[in-house]
Amino acid sequence: MSVDLSGPLMSAFRKAKKEFEEAIKKGDKETARKKALECSRILKQLAKYDEFNRESYLQKAKKWETIARDVEAGRYGVKRKHRPMKEGGSGREAGTEDGEEDKFKQYVENLITKSKVKWNDIGGLEEVKMLMMETVVISALQRPESIQPWKGILLFGPPGTGKTLLASAAAGSLNATFFSVKASNVLSKYFGESTKIISALYEVAREKAPSIVFMDEIDALTTRRSGDQSEASRRMLSTLLTELDGFQDKKSDILVLTLAATNTPWDLDEAVLSRFPRRIYVPLPDEKATKEIIKINTRGLDISRLDLDAIAEESVRRLYSGRDLKNLCQEAIWHMIREENRDLHKLAELPYEKLRRRSLKTRPLEMRDFEEAFKRIKSPLTRKEIERYEKWAEEFGG
Ligand SMILES: Nc1ncnc2c1ncn2[C@@H]1O[C@H](COP(=O)(O)OP(=O)(O)OP(=O)(O)O)[C@@H](O)[C@H]1O
Ligand SMILES: [Mg+2]
Repeated sequence: MSVDLSGPLMSAFRKAKKEFEEAIKKGDKETARKKALECSRILKQLAKYDEFNRESYLQKAKKWETIARDVEAGRYGVKRKHRPMKEGGSGREAGTEDGEEDKFKQYVENLITKSKVKWNDIGGLEEVKMLMMETVVISALQRPESIQPWKGILLFGPPGTGKTLLASAAAGSLNATFFSVKASNVLSKYFGESTKIISALYEVAREKAPSIVFMDEIDALTTRRSGDQSEASRRMLSTLLTELDGFQDKKSDILVLTLAATNTPWDLDEAVLSRFPRRIYVPLPDEKATKEIIKINTRGLDISRLDLDAIAEESVRRLYSGRDLKNLCQEAIWHMIREENRDLHKLAELPYEKLRRRSLKTRPLEMRDFEEAFKRIKSPLTRKEIERYEKWAEEFGG
């Protein structure tokens, strides 16, 4: 059922983390290890409820597993004091690392996520889906040498329209290794060394092919945004472009497909655009797509009493994106849940294991749940901004 339990889970996580820190202070290794594993478990649960932050939760979950191992091996925090702070880095990572290359490879391995998203988790976007399916299938099929699949596809469109979702579905359907990279994360964590991350990334992607590299917020790397581009992002971009130019071995079946996403395609310069000849516009959902997205986000619940046409009409009028629709459904579901489970907030105090054994009372969704939800969800977009996307799509898309 698509009920978002991230609130109670977050408080369970904070509690486990605090207990971990206390155990570390006391030198109680066994408790600390257990609590670190508990943190990892909760984060994995959170990843299930929060598709948008899924990758980041999974990465954090892996980090807590490393912490648990480090605690067990007596390595936790040992070198921390002596490690130089990286420029722009948080310096908060736990554990120790051996050797430069391992460090980069480990970081890259942490970017790998297993995608469970299927094409039918995506509402609307029929043409886009078709195009991506074709690309993915062509890449995987035996084919004459002259037929080369796209190496890079650019997805552009307003926030929350399903770009990340499309990339995940492509990876899920191919059963490809999926690397999810946010340019700004690499830059902030490995400022001066971001080019090494990119090289390591493509090296590991080739090793683990078929692979899909999802480069989110690619605009963060290019010049046009503010006119001043840092040296680090300039070098990172140029390494990326070189990798994209890289010659594809025709005979081997190595598939490394780079999908890039942006909300501000007009910030991209020629150098980037030329590496992404396939540029796909991912627009706001129309009424038909809206209804599909609502159905996807209310799976497992009875929606027979809803007037979906009316909800879709209102949503389109309000310029809702897929993300807004997901939030709308969550708000409506929560409204129903709160009505049916009056003392729900008290559960937040329960330990995670006990929460897992409880189940929620539900009832069919009603229009009044959605009326309440509409009051809370506001699209950040204006019609003028949408027109800007459409214009760019007309001129540069394809
Ligand atoms: N077409 C869609 N079908 C089903 N769900 C959708 C769709 N579009 C968006 N969503 C919901 O909204 C969430 C956010 O979508 P997603 O992360 O793919 O947006 P995005 O285009 O990558 O946004 P951003 O540009 O902000 O990164 C998804 O996890 C999903 O729940
Ligand atoms: Mg995204």
